Amino acid sequence: MAKVEESSKNFSLKEYPFPTEEIPRLSINNPETDRRIAAGLPVVIEDSRLVQSALHWDLDYLQENIGDGKFTVYKSKNKRFQYFDDKKIDSNKNFQKPMEHLDLTFPEFVNKLKTAKPGKDRVYLQQALNEGVGKRIVADFLGFNWSWVTEQQKKNKFGPLTSNLLLIGMEGNVTPAHYDEQENFFTQIRGYKRFILFHPDRQSQFKCMYPYPTYHPCDRQNQVDFDNPDYKKFPKFKDAKGYETVVGPGDILYLPMYWWHHVESLPDYGHTISVTFWYKAGPIGNIVYPLTPQQKVSMMRNIEKMIHQALNDPDEVPEFMQNMVLGRYTEPPA
Ligand code: FUM
Ligand code: FE
Repeated sequence: MAKVEESSKNFSLKEYPFPTEEIPRLSINNPETDRRIAAGLPVVIEDSRLVQSALHWDLDYLQENIGDGKFTVYKSKNKRFQYFDDKKIDSNKNFQKPMEHLDLTFPEFVNKLKTAKPGKDRVYLQQALNEGVGKRIVADFLGFNWSWVTEQQKKNKFGPLTSNLLLIGMEGNVTPAHYDEQENFFTQIRGYKRFILFHPDRQSQFKCMYPYPTYHPCDRQNQVDFDNPDYKKFPKFKDAKGYETVVGPGDILYLPMYWWHHVESLPDYGHTISVTFWYKAGPIGNIVYPLTPQQKVSMMRNIEKMIHQALNDPDEVPEFMQNMVLGRYTEPPA
């Protein structure tokens, strides 16, 4: 177990078979913070006060004020909560859902969270904050440091804010490595989360990660199980090199689009509370060469989707792709 000291907390962290470097933790006033965001590099910002108005949120307060609607809750038989796209299930007949989707009231969720037994089912609430929340939550939400985050959105030419996802996880829950197609200011409200990130660079890190095909329900998710990597199937995972950090209450992690991330809820209060600020990519503007790693990943995705659509049969895709490259593009360049 590695030790990471963060805000005077001492966590014993599981060791994985790849090296990692620390993601810098910087002040909001440090010019390097803005430089990193502009360059699309992750950074932890310690003193932004972005979600200061929500730092008092706990399960009791949320239960009283969040409203009586239904909330999206995932249930998993193990610690992994691997996202999947319901819309892609029909064309993948043998697909086994890695977790179950429940719609629960907040008290039903809290009851499940509090009565969960070690080694048994786990739950993870993942619900966009919307108009259904009560007045006090609306006031807390309006008290977020919108001027800073909106200024960042403008300066960095992000597209519109798409959602603020509220995440309430049990300690030990893991969101396995995946990438999102959105920019994210990830804010921590209660408890601590460990993030392990990998660069989207196609030459170095993307080839070490093995995403499911784009038409698979687990599109954008890594097929490699970090706890038990199958190096025969995924040999380049041996070359993976990550970046990591532990975020605690009040921290923001700027999580750039297309960066792979694996997330663990660490033991502290027994649960963790976080809110994301997700922004669409901005307009592309003039193409500048060389293309960025992000643009290359996006291009690969589009080509893969186009082939899939044109063939109209997922079973034909692997051979078609191999015929395109085998013996012509599979040798390293001379
Ligand atoms: O578990 C998590 O907090 C995951 C967040 C994310 O994937 O953006
Ligand atoms: Fe994500």
